[in-house]
Amino acid sequence: MRHLMSPLDFSVEELEKLLNLADDIGKNPKKYAHTCDDKRLATLFYEPSTRTRLSFEAAMMNLGGKVLGFSSAGSSSASKGESVADTIRVVSCYADICAMRHPKEGAPLVASMASSIPVINAGDGGHQHPTQTLTDLLTIRSLKGRLDNLTIGLCGDLKFGRTVHSLIEALVLRYSNVKFVLISPEELRVPSYIREDILEKNNVEFEEVERLEDALPKLDILYMTRVQKERFFNEEDYVRMKDFYILDKQKMELAKKDMYILHPLPRVNEISTEVDADPRAAYFKQAQYGVYVRMALILTLLEVKLPC
Ligand code: NCD
Repeated sequence: MRHLMSPLDFSVEELEKLLNLADDIGKNPKKYAHTCDDKRLATLFYEPSTRTRLSFEAAMMNLGGKVLGFSSAGSSSASKGESVADTIRVVSCYADICAMRHPKEGAPLVASMASSIPVINAGDGGHQHPTQTLTDLLTIRSLKGRLDNLTIGLCGDLKFGRTVHSLIEALVLRYSNVKFVLISPEELRVPSYIREDILEKNNVEFEEVERLEDALPKLDILYMTRVQKERFFNEEDYVRMKDFYILDKQKMELAKKDMYILHPLPRVNEISTEVDADPRAAYFKQAQYGVYVRMALILTLLEVKLPC
């Protein structure tokens, strides 16, 4: 039995297979409509989410399966003091696979050790968000036709943004010649474990800059992120940082004609709504890719026999 804790749980060949399956699902959704008819997905969300939880649920429903779960710690037995290990032992009796989001780094890993069903990390604190990375990889591959030889700008809260950490790790360790421009205020730079253990250790070409305008002309992909309010220790720092970047129509004039904008969403102020009409704005399309990739992931982890 396999779990998914990090995008690195998959080799490059396995990633290729998964993304190809997601592609096929996007093109022929009907073919997969009954592949999970007798299966159940549990969504155990100890932290708020719209996209991730609903896209997991939509994914399972699109496969013909059923869903059960909770959407906040307050509505689960965690509020009575139950450990994640005990919760997962119980959930293993009710469902075939589960997706867990938790504010504590490592909680889904602890759950996976006590689980008799596959556990998917749907975001653990400021650490990792592997299914968002699978979504991002599918989006980039679909739009640019490749995952190698790219210059990717990551902008915003690079310190607390778990989607950024997972995406950098996957691109560096699974693909070649990806360059990074890390765009953030000084206080929100990537953590040292990403800078030193991933980027420097693998001799990746990267630069850290503060001004979005300086980076824009070089990029093939711009990955915008929101400032992660819930991970700040005080409100004042958040208020000071929250509108540091606002991508608008005028700034988009500096970008290449084929530079796509991604954002894991939710957006706050970092992308002005006027940019939504730009053909390079790919963040809502990205949300659709997220459903296809989660369908592919559920089929893969459940080892379902695929229709021909
Ligand atoms: C992201 C997350 O939860 O880390 N959202 C998501 O899953 N699409 C990004 C965020 O909350 O800013």
